[in-house]
Amino acid sequence: MPRPAPRTPAALLAIAPVERRRLQSRLLRWYRRCARDLPWRRTRDPYQVWVSEVMLQQTQVRTVEPYFQRFLAAFPTIRRLAAASIDQVLLAWQGLGYYSRARNLHEAATIIGRTRPVRWPTDADAWQALPGVGRYTAAAIASIAFDQPVAALDGNIRRVLARLAAVREPADAPAVQARLWRLAQNLLDPAAPGDFNQALMELGARVCTPRAPACRTCPLRAHCRAARAGLQQAIPVRRPRRAAPQVSALAAAIRHDGRYLLLRRGPRGLLAGLWGLPMVETPGPCDATAAALRRAVRPLTGLRVRSPRALGTVSHVFTHRKLTLTVFECALADRRAALSAPAPEAAWLAPAEFATRPLSELDRKALALLGAEARHALQQRTAPAAAVLA
Ligand code: ADE
Repeated sequence: MPRPAPRTPAALLAIAPVERRRLQSRLLRWYRRCARDLPWRRTRDPYQVWVSEVMLQQTQVRTVEPYFQRFLAAFPTIRRLAAASIDQVLLAWQGLGYYSRARNLHEAATIIGRTRPVRWPTDADAWQALPGVGRYTAAAIASIAFDQPVAALDGNIRRVLARLAAVREPADAPAVQARLWRLAQNLLDPAAPGDFNQALMELGARVCTPRAPACRTCPLRAHCRAARAGLQQAIPVRRPRRAAPQVSALAAAIRHDGRYLLLRRGPRGLLAGLWGLPMVETPGPCDATAAALRRAVRPLTGLRVRSPRALGTVSHVFTHRKLTLTVFECALADRRAALSAPAPEAAWLAPAEFATRPLSELDRKALALLGAEARHALQQRTAPAAAVLA
């Protein structure tokens, strides 16, 4: 009969030094033999480590790799990043999502880049004081680039540790997370903190996976209380998720002399700083009508429009909500009317010029409804961009 697993990681917090050393050396040996050769693992340059860790927030390695390469080609140093415009940075980030990461990275680059010569923060607390750098990211950068003995805990590592310690409470509950942070710190090998943290990430991504963990090939099998109790599928325990609320909105594609009006969104919110069609939320999808569009456009743009025609709807799932957007094409009612949004916050663009602005996925879907020329333009990737951004 397997012994019942403890409810908390207390058992591993009290791990004997001999067992801890064995766990560390098994994990590091496995990592040095099996780790993927990833571009940010070929360097300890803090700039590259930082960019990679920010890109890897909530995003898979496979998705990040090409973005990382292109971003570094466009902005090879922190000074080049600090000197770039936010539009250039957002263009290079376009498609990676969670755009606040790019805005924060840029802002932090201007803070660090001010020092001459560049003085990099070295410890996790100093990193965490920068915009967009949370506890996990700060620990990952400080340990990988500066050998600081600080543990990192991301989603993958949380799952690994929850299984190692057979935590039967929801691993994302704040009290459990606090214990898992302590456990991570307790297990960390201070002689190789960057490799140790990355080894746990790697184990979570490749072996200790969410649905079908490959326990037979796991280097930590002998230490794993979940595997011993046959609980590896049941742990981590998840709290039930609330369904994302449905939201509806309408967008105006205002046409004038073959061009369309695009606005740059304000500095706050989900799509802050990105360009797109004037849009407003509506109480429900049935309220996205031509009359509602005419009423909405004036306060958004200062313009009056006529002849609205529904082009179709697009759906987009954000982290916390599902959006249905109805897109209308319309004409200017008064050709001499003045825009309320000044340049450079507004621009009349021909479809061929759409890809010159950073656009959200939602706006790309909406603009694609304008026809073949727009779709063709949107397929052109402008971000690889040393050429475009130079
Ligand atoms: N996820 C977050 N940081 C990572 C890293 N350095 N390597 C692989 N996956 C990661």
